[in-house]
Amino acid sequence: MQFYERLSHELDELKSLDRYRSLPDITARNGKDIEVDGKVLLNLSSNDYLGLGDDRQMLDEYVDQLRMTPHAMTSSSSRLLTGNHPFYDQLEKALTSLYGREAAMVFNSGYHANIGILPALSNRHDLVLSDKLNHASIIDGMKIAEAPYQRYRHKDYDHLEELLVGAGEMYRQIFIVTESVFSMDGDLADLARLVRLKEKYGALLIVDEAHAVGVYGERGLGLCEATGTVDQIDIITGTFGKALASTGAYAVMNFLLREYLLNTMRSFIFTTALPPVILGWSMLTLERQASMNLQRKSLLQLSAKLRSELLGRGFEVPGESHIVPVITGSNSLAIDLASRLKDAGFLCMPVRPPTVPEKGARIRISLRSTLEWKDIMRVPEIIGG
Ligand SMILES: Cc1ncc(COP(=O)(O)O)c(C=O)c1O
Repeated sequence: MQFYERLSHELDELKSLDRYRSLPDITARNGKDIEVDGKVLLNLSSNDYLGLGDDRQMLDEYVDQLRMTPHAMTSSSSRLLTGNHPFYDQLEKALTSLYGREAAMVFNSGYHANIGILPALSNRHDLVLSDKLNHASIIDGMKIAEAPYQRYRHKDYDHLEELLVGAGEMYRQIFIVTESVFSMDGDLADLARLVRLKEKYGALLIVDEAHAVGVYGERGLGLCEATGTVDQIDIITGTFGKALASTGAYAVMNFLLREYLLNTMRSFIFTTALPPVILGWSMLTLERQASMNLQRKSLLQLSAKLRSELLGRGFEVPGESHIVPVITGSNSLAIDLASRLKDAGFLCMPVRPPTVPEKGARIRISLRSTLEWKDIMRVPEIIGG
């Protein structure tokens, strides 16, 4: 009984701190709109940055294709047993060729990728250096790994260099890990600088492009493509669940890393493979997004306009991408602001600690290329109250 009392007590505490979470009651999603708690709202909380998840024509094409050749809804086994459908090979070949790298590997999710890669590659003789604002899945990967880790101040590469110098000859291998577009601040890592540091200190660089894939680069490969650093980054990861409008994740790397991960990465080995029906869809969206350069441009223009309107009104709006956070500081202000926006017809979720640092509560507006300025022009005014 004591155990359950403790759980209830902890939940009450979360409520008193405005940190209690519950599942939203979503009854429909239709194009730009979403129906929550019986109310139709413009969805400004989706990671479907190119609107591919709402592309009815593409979905119909895929369903027609499935009528001719149905793909199974399950893989019924891990990839190393019987789950390795030929679509995996096709998808990995497509990724390898798009990135021009030796090898690619598809995972069940970005979470699987991030909790598996570092624990597989490192042990207690190694050191991981991680940006302070890296995603929870990267933090969980570091917690699982045997290697000690240190977090450098967000995007403070002088601090990172101090840690690299301080580490000296003490470690067998140092790993640097960062997101490219930071999911909660919408700002960008300096990949060119990170590449210089990794080369100077012989470190291995892992970049999580979850929020950059589809949005940056001529073929939507992410910030690494936009900054010409694809070949210098040891492991680039991306998810299918955001701009690619599917499920799963991938990493590109060299042959040896792939072979090693395939043999040692527990979140790859000990889980049922993705179903072929999803792999087929991922191939379609990956190919489609590569030619959506105009959409990428209009998304980034729209984001810059919203950001400058909000900054002009004196709000704290960090970052420079399609993720536009408005910092409120307190949890209750973030909840109030989200509720005012909801009353006015916009869904912008409040984000609170521990997802963001203490006193860093905010609403996070994430934009999509299918939105136009007229859709969101009232937002700055409503935020201004
Ligand atoms: C930076 C980052 N990496 C990884 C993930 C996890 O990806 P997935 O949703 O495919 O598990 C997320 C998702 O929220 C993310 O923001």
